[in-house]
Amino acid sequence: MEKDEFITLKLELFRDNKKKYVEYNYIKRDFDERPMALDVLLQAQENEIDDLAFRYGCRARNCGVCTIDVNDKPRLACRARVKDGDKISPIATLPKIKDFVVKRDGISRQMQGYNNISIKNNLNVEADHSYHNLTSCIECYACLDGCPLHKKNNLEEINNNPYTYGNPFSFLKLQRLYLDPLTPEKEKETIIEKAKSLGLETYKKEYNNLKIKCGVGINLKDEVIKPLLKVAFGDQIEKKNK
Ligand code: SF4
Ligand code: FES
Repeated sequence: MEKDEFITLKLELFRDNKKKYVEYNYIKRDFDERPMALDVLLQAQENEIDDLAFRYGCRARNCGVCTIDVNDKPRLACRARVKDGDKISPIATLPKIKDFVVKRDGISRQMQGYNNISIKNNLNVEADHSYHNLTSCIECYACLDGCPLHKKNNLEEINNNPYTYGNPFSFLKLQRLYLDPLTPEKEKETIIEKAKSLGLETYKKEYNNLKIKCGVGINLKDEVIKPLLKVAFGDQIEKKNK
């Protein structure tokens, strides 16, 4: 095969509780093709590693299940273009199961009991745009990267326990509930208490240095963390972080 007919990627697999690196030559479909990471995984499975484990669903940035790391940064595999020499690995912020498949349920379990406070309705016309912006979250968990709170969780925790500390996603869910006009006023205090119990105060201390990035472009600092901090801790944080 001529060199311009393929690109070589390093795949980090996880098998028998160990990392294993393999090089894969992706055969380009066109001379100037720059494939998505998911194209590489699909072709590698088809051509060479028939038990390669990875998740995907919509292939259109809607379902959030395909998140992997490209060169150690979280990306949606169906939307991340890769080039010769790139490394593809499982998302580092969640426990690995096999290859690129990670355990996702510890995060969603943090929200147990908070899913039925309001009557869910994404088309809630009463809600303002700050609420609707938050409905675009696809639960891809890219925002766990760089989160000082999630870092404190023990990822090896067994029995599907929810993690002790929160993350931008869990706070987004709480902020969305807080903004939802269908959430009864008396529940709002509970929501803020839940945010505090997940460690919101750490964000208060580290707000200025917080480097969190949303996989679909939600401004997590301004639209989630800042308003939650304001309600939970008042003007103090506003002044400190201006
Ligand atoms: S807030 Fe953004 S990065 Fe985090 S889970 Fe939702 S879509 Fe993904
Ligand atoms: S496959 Fe659904 S977001 Fe990538």
